[in-house]
This record gives sequence, C-alpha cells and structure tokens, in this order.
Amino acid sequence: MVDAYAQLIAEGFLVSRKGSGTVVAETGVYLPDHDPEVHDTVERHRTSEIDLRPGPPDLATFPRSAWAKTTRDILRSVADAELGYTPPWGVGGLREQLSAYLARVRGVMTKPASVVVVTGATQGITLLVRVLYAAGVGDIAVEAPSNPVQRQVLGRYGVRVWDVPVDREGMVVDVLARTPCRAVIVTPGHQYPSGVVMSATRRGALTRWADRVDGLVIEDDYDTVFRYDKMQVGAVQALSPARVALVGSVSKSLAPGLRLGWVVCPPDLVSDLRTAKRDDDFGTGVLEQHVLARLIDTGEYDRHVRRLRRHYRKRRDTIVEALEREVPTAAAEGYAAGLHLLLRLPDDVVEEEYVAAAEAQGVAVLGTASMYGTLPPRPGVVIGYGRTSPTMLEEAARRLGAAAEVMGQEQRSRSAREGQLAAPRRPSTAVDYF
Ligand SMILES: Cc1ncc(COP(=O)(O)O)c(C=O)c1O
Repeated sequence: MVDAYAQLIAEGFLVSRKGSGTVVAETGVYLPDHDPEVHDTVERHRTSEIDLRPGPPDLATFPRSAWAKTTRDILRSVADAELGYTPPWGVGGLREQLSAYLARVRGVMTKPASVVVVTGATQGITLLVRVLYAAGVGDIAVEAPSNPVQRQVLGRYGVRVWDVPVDREGMVVDVLARTPCRAVIVTPGHQYPSGVVMSATRRGALTRWADRVDGLVIEDDYDTVFRYDKMQVGAVQALSPARVALVGSVSKSLAPGLRLGWVVCPPDLVSDLRTAKRDDDFGTGVLEQHVLARLIDTGEYDRHVRRLRRHYRKRRDTIVEALEREVPTAAAEGYAAGLHLLLRLPDDVVEEEYVAAAEAQGVAVLGTASMYGTLPPRPGVVIGYGRTSPTMLEEAARRLGAAAEVMGQEQRSRSAREGQLAAPRRPSTAVDYF
C-alpha cells in the first residue's frame, strides 16, 4: 500500500505536504470528454487517486528538446513577412508536409491545396458543419455511442442530429441510409468510445451511401496514429477523396495544448472551408506550423511516434491483461488502436453504480450513458490508459475488480433476499449494437 502511495506521488496524482499529510493533487486539467455541461460528475471525480478517464495523452512524453531546438532553428531562418498575416488555411510548407505524410501513413489521397490547417479536430469538424449548414445540409448523423460534446456542439448550430447505432463492424450504414441525412461524422479508424475498427465492407457501404445521396463523410481520425495491430488500416478518405473530409490533429501524438490539426478536404469544399477558417480566426499560430513541418520533414515526428507506440503498447497490454484477470465479469474491447478501451459491463449492471463503486476504490472511469443520444445505452465504461504507468494500471485493475466484487455481493444478497438464484454475471458476447 505504501508503495502504491509512493507511486501515486511520483506520478503527480497525490501531493505529500509537511504537516498536512497526503492529498489529491489539484491538476486543473480540463478533459473535454467530460465537460461539466455534459457530465455532472466532474467535481466528484476530483477526489479519485487514479484517473483513467480518456482524453489527453501522456504529456510527459512531449518532445520538449526537439521542439525547443526546432523552434530556435525556425526563428533563425523564418522571414519577417512570415510572422505577419499568412494564408489563414495554413502555411504552404506544413500543408505540403501533411499531404505527403498522410499519404504515407494513412493512404490519404490529396494535394497540399486541399489541406486546411486548423486548431484541432474540433475546429475542423465545427467548420465543416458550418459550411454544410450554410449549404442547406441541416441533418447530420453521428455514431451512437459517440463523444457527447460533439452532439451538443452540433445542436448549437441548429443542426438536427441523427443517432446511428454501431455494431462490431462499425456504424450501421443501413440505418444511416434510412435517415434524411446527407452528412455523417464517423470515427472509422477507432470508434469512440467502443474502439471498433470499421470493416472493409462497411467502408465500401459508407462511401457508396455518400455517392448515392451526394453527401459528405466527415472522418474523425483522432487517434489512429497509435495502432498496435500488425494489420494497418488506411483512411476511408483513400476510397473516396471527393466524398470524405478527413480530420486529424497532433492532440494525441504531441499535446492537445498545441491546438494544431488539419482537414483534408474534397476539392469542391476547399474554397468554402478556407473562407470559414478565415472568418473564424484568421489562421492558426504560424511558428508552431513551421516547427511541425520541420519535425515531419526531418523524420523526427516519425521517430517520436514510433517511440510512443512502444510506450503505449506496453500500457495497453498491461491494462488488458490485468482487467481480464481482475475483472472477469466485464469484457475489455476495442483496444487495437488509440489510448482507450471500452470495458463492457453485464447488461444488468447499473453503470452509474459501477462508476461510483470504482470511485469509492479511488479510480475514476468514464461512463458511456451520456454518449448514446436518443438510443438506449448499454452499460460500459471508457478506460483511458495512456497517462498511467504500468504499475498503477495493475493497481487500478485490482481496484476495478474490487468494485465489481462489491457490486456482485450486493446483487447476490439482493437475489437471496428475493429467493432467486443469482445468474452468473458476464456481459453477453453476442453484441447486436454497442
Ligand atoms: C472522438 C474525438 N475526436 C477528436 C478529438 C480531439 O480533438 P482535438 O484534435 O480538437 O484536440 C478527441 C479528443 O479526445 C476525441 O475523443
């Protein structure tokens, strides 16, 4: 136990103060996945010792020296004029680097002229939605479950949001086809939050749907930079560059605080998207754009990503193994890529009670109930493992197992009181929809 405390202090979760003992660190971190507008549990979670809520990556891995050195190099060489107003859709050098990089690692088919530099996937999606809305597209489909903040943002723009279920192959395109939508936001590379990788059949169906309705697929490629399986999965954009806008950022690979991302846009949307970006903020910070372009050009970005992939794979393997051992009544799913997995709970578990039980053990996890929009939720919690060391992940899994055990005991005594035999609690393996 003392060891666990020492580890928590070393990782900044706890602070040890002379005279006042050990207290939970006040990190002041804002996690968009659980924006207080969407989740009223933020305050309660502050007391958790191990925070497994998804969101930022391991910020200690930010390549500070490479970034500092490259910034100095750029400052020495950048022309004064480059520090003035530059094209709001991004500096040419970065758009060139990104179009070559995304072609190489994601199979994306594009030219620098079709790349718009933005402040992150969030701005990319928001601008696209605004462009679509202005063009008369008022119905947009999203995955259910999906990021609740995104659904809320769409609502604010006056868009009607259609919830489309997700099964083991990804978004169910047959259901999408029954909506009046001509635009859809999807996470095919690693569905948020289920972690499903969209199947080849579904990818084909999705682009055929877009052709049929003269529509647009917004591909949110937010975390596929970390794929752990041997099988590489390209972007849907590669199948249909005229129908898919791919949105990505360095929020997982470097740091969300940089606010740096991109949209690879179908050619006939480029002009409107550039205008929307100009209207919004007149462009993204120029120095950071030059630095990222240089890091990609020199191969430093690739090396950084390769190092991180090993770093996170170890954490992923640790948490998956530990959860299988410690929480046999739940099923860890969707961990082929990214920095989170979905822990599915048995259907009769009240998710909120499990989140509270985990919290009582000092572990914060994120429930999925608010992610389904109008569709019925399935009990499950999202576990972000990127910011936690393997040692603490083992500890977290033990505590999550203890939380499940407490709930199981309560259920057994309830059943005994009611004179029933408690059925073994396991999540069903036949998932129709997540
Ligand atoms: C589904 C999804 N899309 C996009 C993002 C990233 O947004 P941004 O690039 O604006 O930081 C996140 C962040 O965690 C996310 O969960």
